[in-house]
Amino acid sequence: MDRILIEGGSSLSGEIPISGAKNACLALMPAALLTRQPLTLTNAPFLSDINTMRELLASLGCEVAGLQNNRVITIAADKITNHVADYNIVRKMRASILVLGPLLARERRAIVSLPGGCAIGARPVDIHLRALKLMGAKLELKEGYIFAEAKKGLNAIDYTFPTVSVGATENIIMAATLADGESVLRNCALEPEIKDLCKCLIGMGAKIKGEGSSTLIIEGVNELNGNTHSVIADRIELGTYMLAPAISGGEVVLTGGNLGLVDSFSSMLVRTGANVSICDKGITVKGAENGINPVNISTEPYPGFPTDLQAQMMALLTLSNGTSILEENIFENRFMHAPELNRMGANILVEGGTAKVVGVKSLKGAPVMATDLRASISLILAALAAKGQTVISRVYHLDRGYENVSAKLSACGAKIKRLSS
Ligand code: EPZ
Repeated sequence: MDRILIEGGSSLSGEIPISGAKNACLALMPAALLTRQPLTLTNAPFLSDINTMRELLASLGCEVAGLQNNRVITIAADKITNHVADYNIVRKMRASILVLGPLLARERRAIVSLPGGCAIGARPVDIHLRALKLMGAKLELKEGYIFAEAKKGLNAIDYTFPTVSVGATENIIMAATLADGESVLRNCALEPEIKDLCKCLIGMGAKIKGEGSSTLIIEGVNELNGNTHSVIADRIELGTYMLAPAISGGEVVLTGGNLGLVDSFSSMLVRTGANVSICDKGITVKGAENGINPVNISTEPYPGFPTDLQAQMMALLTLSNGTSILEENIFENRFMHAPELNRMGANILVEGGTAKVVGVKSLKGAPVMATDLRASISLILAALAAKGQTVISRVYHLDRGYENVSAKLSACGAKIKRLSS
């Protein structure tokens, strides 16, 4: 398995390009199942999760044109020859569950492996299934699979999501576009990736009102057309790389990102003492001049502080001149980066969903292990500032959600390289 080696201590300067959003692309790709015509996505990121979704859609009979270096994916689902989303693919990437709604809406049947949990939590899909049942789907859980059918097609529903769920909102929006009647969906997740999905679906001929709000009104249509859609910039990658100059010192310009999608994160970053400004090339971030201030973080659904940036912010706060409290309210086990950061000399105490981070003067390079996608990049951020050498193992976690990390950071002066096994 590959590892990443970092010699800490260099302050950064230069530009980092922000790629298309993984979590937007993973919802946009299954939308291709809703139409017989090709769906083309541009600005698609080059990530292993995207390749897994390509593999899944191809296994259903879709023609999936690869990711050329111009980051374009074209998916043609005119012939769906298989209705089984196999466990061996689904277990690699939980977002595979997002083929369930579209397959049911278009084909009236689907057999999708339960995604199972992952390192950060149980990650159930009960909300997805409850809503599909209300839409008239017959669902049976058997041998780890969801057997679903809707012989007469799906009907529209007036439904309030019991808790805010990004994936459930996406699945039901896609199902509702071809359902019979007008659906009203309330307490929808507000993540920008959902607004991007709605924009693409409307471009395919879906009748959706209220996109970007928590109440969506979707008038089902008989069929959708193809579309060409540009994937929005990845706000989590943006926030992650804004932290690089903040933790290592220096000044970096992030190009292609949208600061408006990371408001709550960015204001927290400024409170730690970093300087964030807009320039003609993009977003400039400068490390704090007089030390890093402690801040308290509580993760919430969008537009609150994103859970996907909690691990990365924790890396910065390990070097603050005080004590910070981080509350993880979305997932039940999302502090696995803490013991690895402590191996580097951090002082973090985790109790249930709360982590107390007492700032230390410096971190020391050490061999550490990535445990999940966002934990892996938080270790890289810490290693940039640590004295000495850090070797991070299990970097396959990183490849799921970050394109060319070593290239993007070394272009700004970081001493980082990937050691292939
Ligand atoms: C999406 O996951 C993202 N993944 C996650 O990003 C992100 O952390 C999460 O939303 C929250 O923002 C993709 O978009 C591919 P949820 P999702 O449904 O849809 C509970 C990353 O690092 N829940 O909003 O799975 C669930 O357990 C990944 O890029 C149910 O109880 O998240 C969690 O506690 C990690 N029943 C909460 O809701 C359900 O049926 C929010 O989950 C569904 C969810």
